[in-house]
Amino acid sequence: MERKDFIEQVGLSAASILIFGCMQSCSKSDSPAPPQPSGSNNNTVKNIDFTINITISPYTNLNTAGGFYIDRTNSIIIARTLTNEFLAVSSICTHQQVTLDFEASNNRFYCSGHGSTFSTTGAVINGPADAPLKQYKTALSGNLLRVFS
Ligand code: FES
Repeated sequence: MERKDFIEQVGLSAASILIFGCMQSCSKSDSPAPPQPSGSNNNTVKNIDFTINITISPYTNLNTAGGFYIDRTNSIIIARTLTNEFLAVSSICTHQQVTLDFEASNNRFYCSGHGSTFSTTGAVINGPADAPLKQYKTALSGNLLRVFS
């Protein structure tokens, strides 16, 4: 083999290795995210499932009928009615995103922003909010309260 042919052979082999290496490193993980369907608002549906001990701070308000607690991490308001039923709904008003309170004496969620009220299931009682709150399930076992979707 002549020197020129040898250099061509080595050059082609090196180029092949580089191309192969690049193809491996340019795998799917570097691909851009697939486009969202039209109409999507980019909000992901969060799967909620957590358990709290209602005898331990900061949840002790729930150890009393009429008490409530706002979980700001998950944006959920958890309430205990005067008849000891546990409720959990989104804590964010659907009108202009003000954080809600629970009015035990009226058995409803109240927004101090513009006065909207919501039922124990999150349905709108009075506007201006016109969309319901997301409702979560609850299950009490001893002092442990599970909140889940
Ligand atoms: S933000 Fe709740 S009623 Fe307007």
